[in-house]
Amino acid sequence: MALGYPVHRIFLRRISMSAPFDTKVLKVDRESVQFSPNSHLNGALPSIKDAETMKALQHAASVISQSDDPVAFPTETVYGLGGSALNDRAVQNIYKAKNRPSDNPLITHVSSIDQLNRKIFNAHLPEDQLLKNVPEVYHSLIEKLWPGPLTIILNVPSSHNRLSSFTTGGHNTFALRIPSDPIARALIALSDTPIAAPSANASTRPSPTMASHVYHDLHGRIPLILDGGPCKVGVESTVVDGLTSPPMLLRPGGFTYEQIKQLGGEAWQNCRVENQKTLAEGEQVRTPGMKYKHYSPSAKVILLVPEANNAERSKYLQAINRIIGEEIKLNKNIKKIGILVSKRVGSMDTLQIGHLWNDIQILTESLGSTGEAIQTHLFALLRKLDEIDNVDLIIVEGISEDEEGLAVMNRLKKASGDNCVSI
Ligand code: TXA
Ligand code: MG
Repeated sequence: MALGYPVHRIFLRRISMSAPFDTKVLKVDRESVQFSPNSHLNGALPSIKDAETMKALQHAASVISQSDDPVAFPTETVYGLGGSALNDRAVQNIYKAKNRPSDNPLITHVSSIDQLNRKIFNAHLPEDQLLKNVPEVYHSLIEKLWPGPLTIILNVPSSHNRLSSFTTGGHNTFALRIPSDPIARALIALSDTPIAAPSANASTRPSPTMASHVYHDLHGRIPLILDGGPCKVGVESTVVDGLTSPPMLLRPGGFTYEQIKQLGGEAWQNCRVENQKTLAEGEQVRTPGMKYKHYSPSAKVILLVPEANNAERSKYLQAINRIIGEEIKLNKNIKKIGILVSKRVGSMDTLQIGHLWNDIQILTESLGSTGEAIQTHLFALLRKLDEIDNVDLIIVEGISEDEEGLAVMNRLKKASGDNCVSI
């Protein structure tokens, strides 16, 4: 492939690494990238109609395949910060840019099963045997949910393993997904490189669902951001482990627990949800990423947790008022409070609350009234209140933990540092 980008410039910049990156943001058009229906299996390359998108993707692909620098790119879930999953230095540079602890393994993204076989399992398999290296327990999920926000756990190949031990965190398993976002898949396909990619936020911050979030956290720390607009799903992929019995849902995400149980086939009907809090003392957390501080705005976050599915609106309003009173007593510097409402409380309700507190400015944002909408807007609105409005306190109306609610409440509990009030 002829890549018109002077790669040597990237290397030169790395040699003088004390000079920070001049982070470039390149616009890309998702709609102009088209994959054929079976390309996620056989590895057929996409057609890219828009010349600017093609140029940006080729440039990004050359950074991934020919340098050790990370590139931020959109996926359907959140923006990822990617580097070759096979290259120790590239993966170390991802951890470094994010300031992420390096014992936390990363998800490897491939564009097709063919690429998985060639690049990770060192195998060239005919089309009717493409899934030979993937345990049968995953086949139904893969058939129904890939490409998409599903991550599966596989055993690291026992011989000729090329995955960096920094990608796997030294575990003998690794996490794998095929994203559905055309920009993400095109980048992986054009670089023909499995890409290790955590979310492209600074460690502990809310995950980025827009290029501007990535720029806010990482400008000067990475060379390039591909801007493909806002992410549709809004939370990270669902991580499942079918290597254990019963199979486990390790991280709730873009596909719901209900979908996994329904679409996975027999074994998945017994699927359990990993819950750190119920682990016995000394027992290992199965998904290492879950043990760290995560998704946190700078402002204190208090989460309202409905005990019953139909908790009344008035109960939320009373709780919001009480919390404001208590927090102001604790911290005299609170001047601006953000309230994120969802299914039960409306902006008009919080307007009334605003009238009760003279010296306090109350800002309200609506996450939406469906699980899907709430999930899509969650991180972006936490960031807006925190980074643009600079509020001193954020109060969030939680939802029940079914369907999208499981992933939404998982992220919100972490964002609030388990600062929860039952309704
Ligand atoms: O949607 C997503 O998954 C995004 C986008 C960028 O694709 N990526 C993402 O990656 O969220 P990351 O690295 O932030 O999340 C990796 C998750 C963590 O919870 C980690 O502990 C878990 O996957 N994980 C990785 N390798 C694992 C393994 N071998 N066993 C169990 N869990 C693993
Ligand atoms: Mg993350």
